[in-house]
Parts: sequence; C-alpha cells; structure tokens
Amino acid sequence: MMRKLIAGNWKMNGSLAANQALLSGIHDGLSAALGGKHADVAVCVPVIYVSQVQQLVHNMGVALGVQDVSVHAQGAYTGETSAAMLKDFGVRYAIVGHSERRQYHGETDEQVALKAKSALSSGITPIVCVGETLAEREAGQTEHVVKRQLAAVIHTNGHCISEIVLAYEPVWAIGTGKTATPQEAQSVHAVLRAQLQAASEHAQRVKILYGGSMNAANASDLLAQADIDGGLIGGAALKPADFLTIIAAAAR
Ligand code: PGA
Repeated sequence: MMRKLIAGNWKMNGSLAANQALLSGIHDGLSAALGGKHADVAVCVPVIYVSQVQQLVHNMGVALGVQDVSVHAQGAYTGETSAAMLKDFGVRYAIVGHSERRQYHGETDEQVALKAKSALSSGITPIVCVGETLAEREAGQTEHVVKRQLAAVIHTNGHCISEIVLAYEPVWAIGTGKTATPQEAQSVHAVLRAQLQAASEHAQRVKILYGGSMNAANASDLLAQADIDGGLIGGAALKPADFLTIIAAAAR
C-alpha cells in the first residue's frame, strides 16, 4: 500500500520562537504517533524560515517544503524565489496553485502548471492544488473545474506528471471548519485518479491529498478512503497535538 503523506501548510504564520516550539512538539511526539508504522511528513513553511527549519528538521523524519516557487530560473524577478535556490536549502516539496494564490495573486492554470514544471526541473516535488469554489460546486461544476486545473498541469508536464503530488482542496472547506464528507472527497479523488491514469501509466504512484479543514477528529475517516493518500493541513498543522493525531491516523 502507498505510504500516506501528511503535509502541514503553515501559510503566513510563525516566528523564530514559534517555529522552534512547534517543531520541538512534533519532534517529541512523532515516533509515538507513528507507533512503528510509516507515513511521510512534511512542513511547508514561509520561505524566510527555510534555513531555520532546515536545521530544526535535520534527522527528524520531517521533510521541508515551501508554499510557492517562481516559474523563472533566475534573473530580474524582484521578490521571487527560484526552485534551484530552494533546492540549495534542502527543500523537498513546493505547494503550487494553492487557492489563496489563485485568488489573491491571480495565478492562472497555466502559471500553476509552469510552477510545477519549474519545481520538477530542480528535483522538488510540487504539491499541485486544485479545487472548486462554493459557487462552482452549487452550479454542478466541481468535476469540470478540477479537471480543467489538472489538465493544464498534465499538458505542460507530460510524462513527468507521475512525479507530482496532487491536492484536492475544495475552496469552501479551506479554513472554514466545513470539511467535504469522506464520500464527497473520495468521489473527486476518483475523478482525478482516472484523469491521471489516462495521462500516465504510472498514475497509481501519484499521491492525491485531501485538504480543507482536515483535523484531528475527521482525519481517519477521510484517510480511510481508497483514493485519499494523505492530507494538506492548514490550521491543525500549527498545533503539535492535532498534527500528531493526524499523522497517527495516516500511519500504516
Ligand atoms: P485548513 O487549510 O486546513 O486550515 O482548512 C488547508 C489549506 O489551505 O491547505
């Protein structure tokens, strides 16, 4: 069975002191949470903390991730961070196309696809986010929207698509406390899995995470679904006990 991935998305939260406290809490509880079983664990931190967190997670069994990456390799792009720079600091994962970036920074499907490509070209695994808004769900557009978002990434990345992590995050569930039911999530995950399968013979190895108010109470039901291979966790990733409970629910 595929090893599940629990990735924390810290968003724009943290401080040197708070990061240290959070990671020391995770460090202290991680082996008990895993209980001799296995799960992949990552924290996607604000880019300014990459160096600090690289030191803190050293030998801890927690991978380092970030929340965005430039489409460009280098040059006159003020404020951007390239994939090669991130790789230099041991970054394993980069979230791309989070709904907050699509919404507040106008990122298009094509830019998200190029960001995934930029990450892959430096050996960083992109965690590609897709998901519908409440209005799109109510209009019966869920499948259409997530397939359109994933199609752009497949188009730009070709056979490398089997190297990504995909995250289904219904926008209406992010930070709202409203989670998709396990059945609602599984049915979208199955659609995404089929789309990946049509694009790559290795689609079975792509982890498809669920994100959107996943928490200590609902994680095990979500993670029990056939095509839910992990979670992208916002709010609950800032509390060591909650994050550890989710990791325990993912351990196999
Ligand atoms: P949430 O955020 O868990 O706080 O809903 C998830 C995300 O935005 O990745």
